[in-house]
Amino acid sequence: MLKVDGIEKSYRQSGLFSKQRQQVLKNVAFECYHGECLGIIGESGSGKSTLGRLILGIEKPDRGTILFEGKNVKDRSVRMGNISAVFQNYTSSINPFFTVEEAIIEPLKAQKKVQQHMQSKVDELLYQVGLDPSYRRKYPHELSGGEAQRVCIARAISTAPKCILLDEAISSLDVSVQIQVLQLLKQLKEIYKMSYVFITHDIQAAAYICDRVIIFRDGQIEEMVPIGQLKDVQSEYAKKLLKHLITF
Ligand SMILES: Nc1ncnc2c1ncn2[C@@H]1O[C@H](COP(=O)(O)OP(=O)(O)O)[C@@H](O)[C@H]1O
Ligand SMILES: [Mg+2]
Repeated sequence: MLKVDGIEKSYRQSGLFSKQRQQVLKNVAFECYHGECLGIIGESGSGKSTLGRLILGIEKPDRGTILFEGKNVKDRSVRMGNISAVFQNYTSSINPFFTVEEAIIEPLKAQKKVQQHMQSKVDELLYQVGLDPSYRRKYPHELSGGEAQRVCIARAISTAPKCILLDEAISSLDVSVQIQVLQLLKQLKEIYKMSYVFITHDIQAAAYICDRVIIFRDGQIEEMVPIGQLKDVQSEYAKKLLKHLITF
């Protein structure tokens, strides 16, 4: 469904006159299947978010291709409505001047799919993410972190996408809220038959929701394992990382 092949990405290093480039992603290739939750676990700075931005088409790779159902995601029409995103910083993900309703229907507007029954559509989406219809008129600053992230999730599913990229989507939430949002994501994945690319540094979260995980190291895939075999990773680095993250 999502096929990442031979991806390379570098950035110019900071410093006004620096001509050096930092290679952030090196020959990254993997596939995320229909209905699968694929985790990407790695240390901070290993290039996970960069990979996420490339999948979302926010940035272009220097080399390689990312195909969604055989078509290159560099075309906006391929991504639109099919691939959504939920980020860590839910407060800045929603326009502060938008009501919850406006935030939720924004992606549908972009798709020119605003219908007459928008109100019931918004109510249905709110219901699906566990929020009362009265939230429609609220503004982001009136929401708790967990509620704001639920609004971001409602927005992400509004176009019934086939794939959602979640970049540290639960990392800023309180632990008890993290569990609730994880449960919600798991339910929605079944209802909508979606795939998730679940970027995280939280192994427990990955173990709960992912089917397979990629261990990411310095912009490269170190190892890829089914979640049931997470304890049996082969590489020394993966063993160390997992141990470190569990005690974290
Ligand atoms: N737009 C950018 N310009 C320059 N360097 C960047 C940019 N985005 C990311 N980087 C660098 O790429 C590396 C990987 O960053 P990132 O993808 O955010 O990692 P992660 O999400 O795994 O923490 C970091 O060293 C970061 O400084
Ligand atoms: Mg990141």
